[in-house]
Amino acid sequence: MLQTRDLVWALLFVGTAAALQVTITPALGEMSVGESKFFLCEVIGDATDIDWFSPSGEKILPNQQDVIVTRNDEASSTLTIYNANVDKAGTYKCVAKTGDKESQATVNVKIYQKITFTNAPSRQEFTEGDDADIVCDVVSSPPPTVVWKYKRQRVEFAKDVRYKALSNNHLQIRGIKKTDEGEYTCEGRIMSRGEIDFTVIKVTVNVRPSLRARQTELNATADVGQSVTLACDADGFPEPNVTWARNNVVLETDDKYSLNEDGSELIIKDVKKVDEGDYTCIAKNKAGETEKEIGLNVFVQPKITFLENLTASELEEQITLTCEATGDPTPSIVWSYGRRQFSEGEQSLDGNVVVRSDARVSSLTLKYVQFTDAGQYLCTARNSIGLDTQAMYLEVRYAPKIQGAVAVYTWEGNPANISCEVLAHPGASVVWFRDGQQLPSANASNVKILSTPAVSYLEVTPESQADFGSYNCTATNMIGMESKEFLLIQADVPSAPAIERVEPYSSTAVVGFEEPDASGGVPILKYKVQWRVSQEEQWTAREFEVEEGMQVIFVSGLRPETSYVMKMSAINGKGEGDSSAPEFFKTEPIQGEPNPPKLEAKLQSNGNVLKVNWIKQDDGGSPIKHYLVRYKAKHTSDWKQELRLPSGSEHVVLSGLDWDTEYEVLVQAENQQGKSTPGSISIKTSPEPTTIPDAVTNGSGLGTGAIVGILIVVFVLLLVAVDVTCYFLNKCGLLMCIAVNLCGKSGPGAKGKDIEEGKAAFTKDESKEPIVEVRTEEERTPNHEGGGQTEPNETTPLTEPEKNAVDGTSKPEEAEAKKPAAEVKTVPNEAAQTNGSESKA
Ligand SMILES: *[C@@H]1O[C@H](CO)[C@@H](O)[C@H](O)[C@H]1NC(C)=O
Ligand SMILES: *[C@@H]1O[C@H](CO)[C@@H](O)[C@H](O)[C@H]1NC(C)=O
Ligand SMILES: *[C@@H]1O[C@H](CO)[C@@H](O)[C@H](O)[C@H]1NC(C)=O
Ligand SMILES: *[C@@H]1O[C@H](CO)[C@@H](O)[C@H](O)[C@H]1NC(C)=O
Ligand SMILES: *[C@@H]1O[C@H](CO)[C@@H](O)[C@H](O)[C@H]1NC(C)=O
Ligand SMILES: *[C@@H]1O[C@H](CO)[C@@H](O)[C@H](O)[C@H]1NC(C)=O
Repeated sequence: MLQTRDLVWALLFVGTAAALQVTITPALGEMSVGESKFFLCEVIGDATDIDWFSPSGEKILPNQQDVIVTRNDEASSTLTIYNANVDKAGTYKCVAKTGDKESQATVNVKIYQKITFTNAPSRQEFTEGDDADIVCDVVSSPPPTVVWKYKRQRVEFAKDVRYKALSNNHLQIRGIKKTDEGEYTCEGRIMSRGEIDFTVIKVTVNVRPSLRARQTELNATADVGQSVTLACDADGFPEPNVTWARNNVVLETDDKYSLNEDGSELIIKDVKKVDEGDYTCIAKNKAGETEKEIGLNVFVQPKITFLENLTASELEEQITLTCEATGDPTPSIVWSYGRRQFSEGEQSLDGNVVVRSDARVSSLTLKYVQFTDAGQYLCTARNSIGLDTQAMYLEVRYAPKIQGAVAVYTWEGNPANISCEVLAHPGASVVWFRDGQQLPSANASNVKILSTPAVSYLEVTPESQADFGSYNCTATNMIGMESKEFLLIQADVPSAPAIERVEPYSSTAVVGFEEPDASGGVPILKYKVQWRVSQEEQWTAREFEVEEGMQVIFVSGLRPETSYVMKMSAINGKGEGDSSAPEFFKTEPIQGEPNPPKLEAKLQSNGNVLKVNWIKQDDGGSPIKHYLVRYKAKHTSDWKQELRLPSGSEHVVLSGLDWDTEYEVLVQAENQQGKSTPGSISIKTSPEPTTIPDAVTNGSGLGTGAIVGILIVVFVLLLVAVDVTCYFLNKCGLLMCIAVNLCGKSGPGAKGKDIEEGKAAFTKDESKEPIVEVRTEEERTPNHEGGGQTEPNETTPLTEPEKNAVDGTSKPEEAEAKKPAAEVKTVPNEAAQTNGSESKA
């Protein structure tokens, strides 16, 4: 349509006038940088040339790069501007020519720039504390207005002084903080065009590492396989790497070191002294690097490195013991010997021990060495973390030293030991001499030498006066020799003791005496006390063994209201000494009942068998007829049947008692005047044994058998005794019959000895028969009884008052008198035995 109309117009002009008409479409040229656009120049009228001219007036030639002109047909030409830039702006002219006619049109091409972010990285990183410059370079034409937003809010520069808009539109944050992190929006606006554009910038704030050492100083002990851990905790953003270094050498996991996963811990294995020093932990990230030092102190336990045994000789001027020790801190050294301690600079009172210490070395100097200095010395090295102790031995060689009692007493026939105690190092050999002749010699068969390492005994059994005198002990070792004379002295009998006082009762007396002035060189073994009724000749004698602290002697078996003479003498191994001056006294009249017996109880090994011994006390002036024994378990009220024991008895055995039970036993002595108050004693039986020992079963079995057996034997003996008595006295009985019938013997005319024997047998059996005496003890009893069963505390085991009467003058109660005679004899017998053994001492 348009073309048709234009064509009409052209025809009109061609026809009427030859004028040219030029139009450019579009008439307004506005474009943004980089855009492309074309303009059409149309000519009405016959034009031979259609040309375009640039704003600078130059004709635009074809084949140009960005600005291209194309002739479409006779009447139009196109100007195309590709990829416009600001230079291309201006007024372009289209000129049509034909012959000399010319016509033109212009178009004003305006080129403007849109908002463009030329440099606004979408991620920007800063370091905390720095002044951050958030870059956002924006161009446009006309230049834009830039607005910053943070968290959808416009950044108000007036409100926060840390923010500043730089002239280049950058946003500056002074001293940026971690909290400033986030997305910032940079927005450009052009008011005239209403144009807007923005870009989002992600801001990251890095933080320089910071380090915290868990300890700045560590202590460790060397050479004990110890591991120490050094630790540094790092903070920062991004997460820092931690590394360790010592003397600028980086440490890595190996035999010596080990690092944990995040590197925060360094483990030093098997710490040695060389590991002492400073360790650096280094934390590093993009934002920077931080270091921290940790000091390791390595201590070393004390160790004694030198200490040796030493040998000295007595009276050597001095000897020095040396002890060396290592350790860190340097150890201090102390010496000790037994309970004594010596430390640096210390001196003994006599100045004979001096200790000097230097770094790591200590010396102990002993002056004028004595044999008593020998032994074990301890060296102790000590520092703040430990100690080491070692022992050394000081050997002191010294010549023999002889000790031992110089004087030894004995008597002819009694062997005695002369002991030569020798101290020596090294050990000495000991030789005995007698009159310059070495012992034992062919002439001296009565001499024996018994040696132990420390003592040499010369056992001499003197045969004659010639064997007494001096003996020479000579000890010799490599250091020297010592000899000493020992004297073997003839012992004497003791001198006379003195009777100080006699306290008489009706049948007993307490004799206080004073020991002899001289023992004769050997111990006194016994005292012999002799007494007689004043008007009579016959002495009664009894011996009493010496006991510790003995000051009084109890004499029993005296007649009441009778005057006596008493004397005493002391006996040692050599023999009996002189008698004391005689002492006169008179016994008291009959008093009445006896005094209560003193009791002592002993559990037999069975544990439920009890033996109660008693010691007869004063009988009140008339002989004791018998003893009454009662007993019961303490917790019950019923007494067991009372036992009546003959006057000679000294004990009772109670068997078959309850286990683990306290028993009370009462013993009364009875004479014609009545019963004594009871002597009493309590004792507890053992707990019942879990396994019954054989002895018990055997014992009880025997017990029953024994009772029956004994009863039968006793009965038969009794019968025989009665029969024999009858036979002799009355000439009757079974024996008489047999004698008369078989032998035709008319029986003995003289009774004397036989009668007494018969009686003795009778009384003995009877008296030896304590009712409850059920044990095999029975057989031992006679022997024991004879010994007087002297109780340890009781110096006078007063057996029977009547006994002595036999030896002495009184003859009442003949029947009972026999047995004591036997018992009196046993005293000297036993004494003789002890005598023998003790006399050697
Ligand atoms: C390490 O030892 C020294 C000296 O003994 C002491 O003063 C310090 O306190 C110790 N340090 C530690 C951490 O134990
Ligand atoms: C941190 O350690 C890791 C792993 O050990 C390593 O890859 C990285 O390069 C280290 N970074 C720095 C800054 O040393
Ligand atoms: C030192 O003497 C003691 C005892 O005499 C001995 O046990 C120890 O082995 C000796 N030490 C040396 C190093 O000779
Ligand atoms: C003398 O001593 C020796 C050794 O100790 C000893 O065997 C001996 O019985 C003693 N002799 C006398 C009489 O004591
Ligand atoms: C023994 O003794 C006799 C005389 O007492 C003396 O002649 C003799 O030499 C002695 N024998 C020895 C071996 O000493
Ligand atoms: C003991 O006998 C030895 C050797 O005969 C003699 O050297 C020494 O002097 C005698 N010692 C005494 C104390 O008599």
